[in-house]
Amino acid sequence: MQSIEEKIQQLKRERGAIIIAHNYQPDEVQAIADFTGDSLELSRKAAELEEDVIVFCGVHFMAETAAILSPEKTILLPDRFAGCPMADMITAEQLRAKKAEHPGAVVICYVNSSAAVKAECDLCCTSSNATAIVASVPADREIIFVPDTHLGHYIQKELGREMIIWDGYCPTHSRIRDIDIKRELADHPNAKVMAHPECPLPIRDLADYLLSTGQMCTHAKESDENEFIVATEMGLLYRLRNENPEKKFYSVSDRALCPNMKKIDLEKILWSLEDMQHRVTVPEETANKARRSIESMLELS
Ligand code: 13P
Ligand code: SF4
Repeated sequence: MQSIEEKIQQLKRERGAIIIAHNYQPDEVQAIADFTGDSLELSRKAAELEEDVIVFCGVHFMAETAAILSPEKTILLPDRFAGCPMADMITAEQLRAKKAEHPGAVVICYVNSSAAVKAECDLCCTSSNATAIVASVPADREIIFVPDTHLGHYIQKELGREMIIWDGYCPTHSRIRDIDIKRELADHPNAKVMAHPECPLPIRDLADYLLSTGQMCTHAKESDENEFIVATEMGLLYRLRNENPEKKFYSVSDRALCPNMKKIDLEKILWSLEDMQHRVTVPEETANKARRSIESMLELS
């Protein structure tokens, strides 16, 4: 009898599909994926893939980004309720109202936002290129940054540049406390702290490095350091440990778990390929507008 992994592989071939997964996905999903990465890497990958069907193991805004970049492809999200609470913290209507208060401002959205919000923006960014994207805006222009307050304030401090920042946040990263880092540092005094810029300020202040999940993977591999405290969603530990078996990685807290990322499992991937569901699409007009902000980001990064 075929295992579920074998059934997925067979159906994947029959459908001409590829499975891509975010770095926070459950271990068994990352293990079966053809490609894993952070938001920027997944956007790039989605844009260049030859396969007609992409099973996107991540959350809704990520699948939507793939659908915007490749409208001719079939983008499948194995659980249609896998959303991102931060992305839901701003609507297009709210953003239009903010833009009306600041006519002439350049509007930058973190990729963790809906297609409708992206359609209202001039530029998109991810955690791995946010500083460079903001720095590309001429100094005399006002900037509205949505929706992540922590990423926004991190860039503001890095560049010494005032922005109008929305007050959205990631519930998962907000559950990480400074005492979690201090406890891990007491237990592992030689470890370096890698934190995601979605973390609140007390965590960012304790970090040696503020990096996207993909940048954390690169840094862990390329640096001479051997021990890391990882302040982001715990799914990343699978990839870090797999790629660096000789190094040590400590998750900062078992509360650093994104329930939405964990909604996808092997059964749902199999079902997704069997039924070609749930297809993520974006209305053409919205997609055309949103694509401009994503493509400008891809050109600048
Ligand atoms: P990365 O782009 O760093 O993978 O982050 C995505 C995300 O949702 C972080 O919570
Ligand atoms: Fe959204 Fe946070 Fe989950 Fe990332 S970890 S998908 S920002 S809720």
